[in-house]
Formats: sequence, structure tokens, C-alpha cells
Amino acid sequence: MNMIKAVDIHKKFNNLEVLKGISLTVNKGEVIAIIGPSGSGKSTFLRCLNRLETIDQGTIEIEGDVLVAGSADGKVQYAAEAEARQICRRMGMVFQQFNLFPHLTVLENVIEAPITVKGVKREDIVPQAEELLRKVGLAEKRDVYPSRLSGGQKQRVAIARALAINPDIMLFDEPTSALDPELTGEVLKAMRKLAEEHMTMIVVTHEMAFAREVANRVIFMDNGEIVEQGTPEAVFGSPSQPRTKAFLNRVV
Ligand SMILES: Nc1ncnc2c1ncn2[C@@H]1O[C@H](COP(=O)(O)OP(=O)(O)O)[C@@H](O)[C@H]1O
Ligand SMILES: [Mg+2]
Repeated sequence: MNMIKAVDIHKKFNNLEVLKGISLTVNKGEVIAIIGPSGSGKSTFLRCLNRLETIDQGTIEIEGDVLVAGSADGKVQYAAEAEARQICRRMGMVFQQFNLFPHLTVLENVIEAPITVKGVKREDIVPQAEELLRKVGLAEKRDVYPSRLSGGQKQRVAIARALAINPDIMLFDEPTSALDPELTGEVLKAMRKLAEEHMTMIVVTHEMAFAREVANRVIFMDNGEIVEQGTPEAVFGSPSQPRTKAFLNRVV
């Protein structure tokens, strides 16, 4: 069974076609890195996977369950609301901007969604949240407010928060792009650890070294399309498409 199966995804914003038929299948435990120039549709694609954006055409299945499917009239049909929510909760997402709740402590930020969204009891989730904070190296910050944290620490809290809903898949959208260079390492380390534990992950990133070392597959997107994909060795070492070569020459 595929963890994610996206077929022929099309998405327009007004008249701008941002995704022009993206297909991607992700297996359990795979780490996919998506690279590509700004504006190529990487964020939109991730957001479509967990219904932060709706698609205009195509099919998305998560762990074999249909989130949205093409229908005969050329439009799409989403799963009923409760089912769609349940499907999307299997994906945790981490954004470039961490969006922690400023009025909640680190621990409260991590336990908020399990309590309000999943109805988990506070006493049941607190030990798990503490374990997650240990995992991202922030156990000692549990009672601190986000304003007292560095950007790297905030992003690690955001990772713990996303993990607290116990997702089967993690989606990362440029998780280190808003960070000072000296703080990216600690965030990448937390992500690397997750990958080593065989979490299924899609990571949109500009960190080519991370993509090369951690990803099983690298996808190069440009202008709403997947231009090229393959192992890191293939895509970085001997890209076959001129657009991939040009992009890598600019960024590496
Ligand atoms: N909510 C939106 N409304 C209108 N246009 C959008 C919206 N979100 C993204 N876009 C446009 O879609 C294109 C792809 O954006 P995005 O998915 O953010 O690309 P990337 O993440 O690769 O930089 C860009 O031209 C962007 O301006
Ligand atoms: Mg983006």
C-alpha cells in the first residue's frame, strides 16, 4: 500500500495554473526531498496533499483511503468532511514560519492539538509530549514561552507539535528557510532522526546537502511540473534535464 498516491494533480489560482499534472507515489518509510525554484508550486503541492488547498483535477489517496478523486464531469469529489479530516490528521505539517501560539508554553503548544482536535486526555498526552520534547532536545524548555526561544528551538517545538497527533506522514515546507544558518543544523538533526526512525516524509528544502544525504528520492519541480526525479546520486550527480542542471548550477 502507498502512503501517498497523488495522480495528475492540477491546481489553479484564478487563471494561473500552479500545478500542471503532478503525480507522486510515496512508500512507507520513504524520505522525499522536493527541490526547485521559488514559485514552482512546491508549497501548493504539499498544501493540496493535506487539503489546506483544494485541487481542481486529479486524485489523492492517503494510505489507501481516497481524500479526493476525479469525477466523470471533469471536476473532483472530496471525501465527506469527517472522513477528509480524519485522513488529513494522519499527516503532520511543519511550515517555514513556525506559528507557535505565543500565549501558550512549549508543552501547551505541543498538547493543544491532541486535546482539542483528537479529544485525548491531558494526563495521557503530557508524558508523550515530554517524550517528544526530549526527542527534539527541548525537554528543559517545557514551561517556557515561545518568545524566549531561538528560531531553531521554535522550529523544533513545531516538529514536536506536529508529531504529537501521532501522524503516519510528515510534510515539511522549507523548515529551515527562516532560520539563521547557525540554527539550521539543530532542526535538520531532528529531521534526520525522524528519517532514521523510518518516518515517511516529504521535505521541500533548499538544503541540498540534507537532500543528498537523507532523501531516498529527490524531485525537481519547475513551473508546476515534476521535471525530473531519482536517487540523490542521479539527480545531483548526473541530472538529465537542462532545467535541473541550470537550477543546480545556480544553487549548489
Ligand atoms: N493563495 C494563493 N493565491 C494566489 N496565488 C498563489 C497562492 N499561493 C501561491 N500562489 C502562486 O502560486 C505559484 C506557486 O507558489 P508556491 O506553491 O508557493 O511555490 P513554491 O513553494 O515553489 O515557491 C506562485 O506563482 C504563487 O504566487
Ligand atoms: Mg514555498
